[in-house]
Amino acid sequence: MKTDSSCCNCSKPKDPGRRSALKICTGALLGLAAASAHRTHAGEISDARPEIGDFLVRTDAEGGTQPLTISDLAVGDKPILAFPLEPASGAIKSGSRLNKVIVFRVQPEEIDEDMRRNSVEGIVAYSAVCTHQGCDITNYVPKDNALICFCHFSQFKPTHGGEVIGGPAPRRLPVLPLKAENGRLVVAGKFSSKPGATAG
Ligand code: FES
Repeated sequence: MKTDSSCCNCSKPKDPGRRSALKICTGALLGLAAASAHRTHAGEISDARPEIGDFLVRTDAEGGTQPLTISDLAVGDKPILAFPLEPASGAIKSGSRLNKVIVFRVQPEEIDEDMRRNSVEGIVAYSAVCTHQGCDITNYVPKDNALICFCHFSQFKPTHGGEVIGGPAPRRLPVLPLKAENGRLVVAGKFSSKPGATAG
């Protein structure tokens, strides 16, 4: 019974023809290994948390991606949900929902001094995952200056570092610091705290 389990009869060559076949075989295996390593690397990037220099991108209705720019957001507009993108690889870090951020614009003068350092012309970005039990946060209510999680109505104050102003959330919403480069919104630092639900 044949015991060779390789992809293309990769056994010891006994003649020149078989040597050629072995070369092809080896090349194919190296190609597969490289593709697998590439996929693994891409997967690692996709799950990695935002890093300084990442762009922010949103996915459009056709499945394309668009880097967010300052001019994409006006005061009073609905928030945009976005993921970081690593410029070197072009990989979008959407492999983990903990990388999803909610981005919107408020009047810069409403933002406190600490948060102003993490914002761009009134644009702020926060983890879009509630620190209570991890529901998505998709709503900002300007009249209350509150990000609201509709699962159990936790409220967070985006002009003041995401502090909790209502509901059961046990801790602030993590801030994703921003800066601008050529009009694009770019990540300026790691999340201010661990994104996601609070254990316990
Ligand atoms: S999960 Fe957001 S308030 Fe409970």
